[in-house]
Amino acid sequence: MKSRSIAPALGALILVNRSHPLQGVPCPELAAPDPAHPHLLMERRAALLLAACIRDAGARGRIVPVSGWRSHKEQQEIWDDTMAKEGEAFTRQYVAFPGCSEHESGLAIDLAQTAPEIDFIRPEFPYDGVCGDFRRLAPRYGFVERYRADKQAITGIAAEPWHFRYVGIPHALLMENRRLCLEEYIDLLRQQELACTLENGSCIRVRRLDVPDLQNWNRPSTGTYQLSLDNTGGVIVTQWEGTL
Ligand code: DAL
Ligand code: ZN
Repeated sequence: MKSRSIAPALGALILVNRSHPLQGVPCPELAAPDPAHPHLLMERRAALLLAACIRDAGARGRIVPVSGWRSHKEQQEIWDDTMAKEGEAFTRQYVAFPGCSEHESGLAIDLAQTAPEIDFIRPEFPYDGVCGDFRRLAPRYGFVERYRADKQAITGIAAEPWHFRYVGIPHALLMENRRLCLEEYIDLLRQQELACTLENGSCIRVRRLDVPDLQNWNRPSTGTYQLSLDNTGGVIVTQWEGTL
């Protein structure tokens, strides 16, 4: 069956960086991942999965959210404030240019190890202890550590061990297993289809189409699939086994 009326949701796979700003994106439906911090919000599904990951890592009360969804105005204020206090080189390394921050999408969260004082721009989130436990579990809940030191030349942002980005399953697992940042993952999907087998044995296939090709795509008549725009002119198709 061919469909000519598929309108993919913006989705969890949108690339947001200096070359790929958020444009005309509506405010997502927001929720608080941690009831102890009700003003700290994320996109609703990401918030639910973050709360589950923190709970399952045994990290409730030991890991706190520091910064989630930011309005464009807030990102601009953070940029201006950091420029004034820390200078341009620091700001460009640790604060995304307004309009180009994942925080404006609601899909990113900065986390800190609970402490009496927490740095808002560079919170402590070590690789060991409870933060390490969370970090290991995170891909199974759809989260990736977005800014690794060895990817700075690609992402344009310095190492941020505290910044996690929700991309969903199976994408977080595929990215983690191949140590790909989101820019590299989308590039790989331009070249090939990927498959991921989950612990329960189900297989998920992922591929990318250019948006204009979506109208000729054979939409599965049964089963489960998801579409997400990638903000680079593509749509990423995620299909669960039995639906190909
Ligand atoms: N700290 C990240 C890069 C942001 O400002 O979005
Ligand atoms: Zn962040």
